[in-house]
Amino acid sequence: MSDKAKLILGDKTFELPTFTGSEGEKAVDITKLRAETGYVTLDTGYMNTGACTSAITFLDGEKGILKYRGYSIEEIAEKSSFLESSYLVFYGKLPTATELKNFEDRIASFDDVPEGIKQQIKAFPKNAHPMAVLASNMVSLSAFYEDMCAQDLTPAQKDTAIVQLMGQIKIMAAYAYRHSQGKDFVKSDKSLDYCSDFIHMMTGDKNVKKEVAKALDILLILHVDHEQNCSTSSVRLVGSSKANIFATISAGVDALWGPLHGGANQAVLEMLAEIKDSGKGYEAFLAEVKDKNSGSRLMGFGHRVYKNFDPRAKIIKVACDTVLATLGVKDPLLDIAKGLEAVALKDEYFVSRKLYPNVDFYSGIIYRALGIPTNMFTVMFAMGRLPGWMAQWKEMVEQPGFKICRPRQIYTGDTTNTYKDIKSR
Ligand code: CMC
Repeated sequence: MSDKAKLILGDKTFELPTFTGSEGEKAVDITKLRAETGYVTLDTGYMNTGACTSAITFLDGEKGILKYRGYSIEEIAEKSSFLESSYLVFYGKLPTATELKNFEDRIASFDDVPEGIKQQIKAFPKNAHPMAVLASNMVSLSAFYEDMCAQDLTPAQKDTAIVQLMGQIKIMAAYAYRHSQGKDFVKSDKSLDYCSDFIHMMTGDKNVKKEVAKALDILLILHVDHEQNCSTSSVRLVGSSKANIFATISAGVDALWGPLHGGANQAVLEMLAEIKDSGKGYEAFLAEVKDKNSGSRLMGFGHRVYKNFDPRAKIIKVACDTVLATLGVKDPLLDIAKGLEAVALKDEYFVSRKLYPNVDFYSGIIYRALGIPTNMFTVMFAMGRLPGWMAQWKEMVEQPGFKICRPRQIYTGDTTNTYKDIKSR
């Protein structure tokens, strides 16, 4: 088969190179399209746009495959830890035991945040959403680590950036929660593993059950990276202007907050609680989300890329049953979620649009069972996604031919207007 694509515009035919990825994905390379033809592509919502090449994550939405650096998510979730998989996506290889220990120790060494960050958290109203606090804290770190704000970080500074942000995001997240509860901050304890320390800083209790820490670890692994999603694309876009790493990652936190992206995990729980409290049956609720005028959606369902099933949702559903059984938690919202899923999966509306439960459908129920409050769910997603954002940023700035991201548009507004003085408008 030809490795060129033919484009006929009027009476001219242009040849465009094609590009095939390592998993066989095919793309038409349009880098020279505008220069050669005067045309650009129009792809609202980037439904068909490959914005970059990347060697970090592969996903096949039709087959429900997700791999980090060539390892299946199922195998990583079973055999790896959150910090090990973070190392994997950032450095591109599984660490040796010594490398992993060093990585863990370096993350644990960032066991505090500057006093100004603590003051900033305290200055927020108690009912501030923790994502607002986290995004602000994240960008504010740039005011305290000037040397890390250089346009081009050295390899050693990039190594520091990943361990520093992984260490400090955990502290800022836990402190934001403690502040919302009107409680004093709890100092990080280096002797605890990452997830146990986070729960300890939230609850003040060092005796974190192994099962609880393990369940949280798996949830974080499942969120580590997901190729060019909205928040990762935001990180690449902002980072491409050579904004500092703190500003760049803060942009990812902001993008993640939206209910169509990471904010869906909080929205799912609120939806399930509403179904329970209102006493609405599943059918009545589904009729509402199917009505385009209602403005509501079945949160935790549907995905831009997965059109068969979301492999993360499969793992989470099993983990959900295990965690609740192990902790002896009986949650009526889990029964509602399962009932809703069963009815939706048989409903023509969802079947014909290939809408399946996504990663956010069951994750909130696990967070709830672990004692993590609803408004912290998206913060948990941010903690999990941080290494993915960092890996994607590193890959971008190190790629030959690195350029600022700057899409084009097709202008559809007025062409010539006659300016009228303000008094005569
Ligand atoms: N409930 C009801 N209808 C839906 C839903 C839903 N959850 N999702 C999609 N649809 C309908 C949509 O109305 C449209 O119907 P029609 O063709 O008749 O106009 C069709 O399905 C296609 O939807 P779309 O909005 O064009 O699809 P998209 O790829 O642009 O959006 C999505 C993907 C994830 C934003 C969307 O499915 C959604 O809003 N889901 C609910 C929010 C959610 O759970 N988000 C988390 C995504 S996974 C984790 C993450 O990325 O953070």
